[in-house]
Amino acid sequence: MIYLDNAATTLKKPLSLYPAVLKNTIINSANAGRGGHFYSMRASEGIYETAEAISTLFNIPSPEQLAFTPNATYALNYAILGLLSRDSHAIITQMEHNSVLRPIHKSCDYTVIKADRHGNIRLTDIKKSIRKNTKLIVCTHASNVCGTIMPIEQIGKLSRSHGIPFLVDAAQSAGSIPIDVEKLCIDLLAFSGHKGLMTPMGVGGLYVREGIKLNPIITGGTGSLSQSLTQPDFMPDILHNGTLNAPAIISAKKSVDFILKQTPQEIGKKEHFLASRLFENLKNMDNVTAYGSFEKGNHNGTVAFNVYDYDSVHTSEILNDKFKICTRGGWHCAYPAHQALGTEKKGAVRASFGFFNSVSDVAKLTDAIYFISKNKSFF
Ligand SMILES: Cc1ncc(COP(=O)(O)O)c(C=O)c1O
Repeated sequence: MIYLDNAATTLKKPLSLYPAVLKNTIINSANAGRGGHFYSMRASEGIYETAEAISTLFNIPSPEQLAFTPNATYALNYAILGLLSRDSHAIITQMEHNSVLRPIHKSCDYTVIKADRHGNIRLTDIKKSIRKNTKLIVCTHASNVCGTIMPIEQIGKLSRSHGIPFLVDAAQSAGSIPIDVEKLCIDLLAFSGHKGLMTPMGVGGLYVREGIKLNPIITGGTGSLSQSLTQPDFMPDILHNGTLNAPAIISAKKSVDFILKQTPQEIGKKEHFLASRLFENLKNMDNVTAYGSFEKGNHNGTVAFNVYDYDSVHTSEILNDKFKICTRGGWHCAYPAHQALGTEKKGAVRASFGFFNSVSDVAKLTDAIYFISKNKSFF
């Protein structure tokens, strides 16, 4: 099988040592932060070391400002629900994932910045939408539908100049696009581990800049201030409720070290190269439409496409069943993004490249799409 669904999760994890660490921590890990004994301290130290590695990756000033979550969805919910109230206003873009759209929709009044048919937004539209009660600006770093990279640095500077917290959804960029929270003026950074950071599932995180106060949406045992009936108000304990997934978080250090060694620049370069190659092939193919911002160059390793007006889920099924290629059809939890691309009726097939894909995978997918486009009998 050829795996081209890295935007959903990275199937291959790179490390020879990884299984040993994971196995050891699964069968032999005490509860982190729940005691001063040797085993609990060892688990806490392991988790802290992963937080240090991730802080290096994103230039987070202190690992204390980083909380682990089970995935990006939890991190986004902690940030959005923790900052907004009914009388707040928020600004988001049309390219957001449901993990942003749904918590925003239930929290407050909000403005959606329209994207063009390549997934690009305009900074001036954000500027014009700022109100007195705007309490948060949220933007995905890269679209999970068509791979368009958003102008994060400009949005960060704009948000900072208005004193509005800026939340970046880095689910599709962490590990493959360099992120420096200081330089990009990011106040809150939500990310998945299991995608571009190549960690086991069950790892995500939220960076919260010092000085930003979140209301805790989940309260409970943190191992600290046990005599108090209220949640500790300091990071990371304010968000570290209940037992953490120590095996996955501790082993995540191996993959973050791998990313640091390869560098997000180089990983992203490779993924972009493969995606561009596919895009070029599809552009020249009759009856195939490819979407995204390749011509402008602000694009990651994801390509969305359709063959004729075929149902994208069915096309993806054919790619799986007949050609043994894993892609994802449908709406990718981001319906408004499909409205921007003009694919709201049939969705799109998404091929998302990862570090372990090769030009031969691009060639095989290109041939398969060509074959499908020439054989209407599939539909
Ligand atoms: C842009 C974006 N945001 C958020 C998420 C949610 O990530 P997770 O599955 O880690 O919760 C995804 C997942 O596909 C995504 O692509």
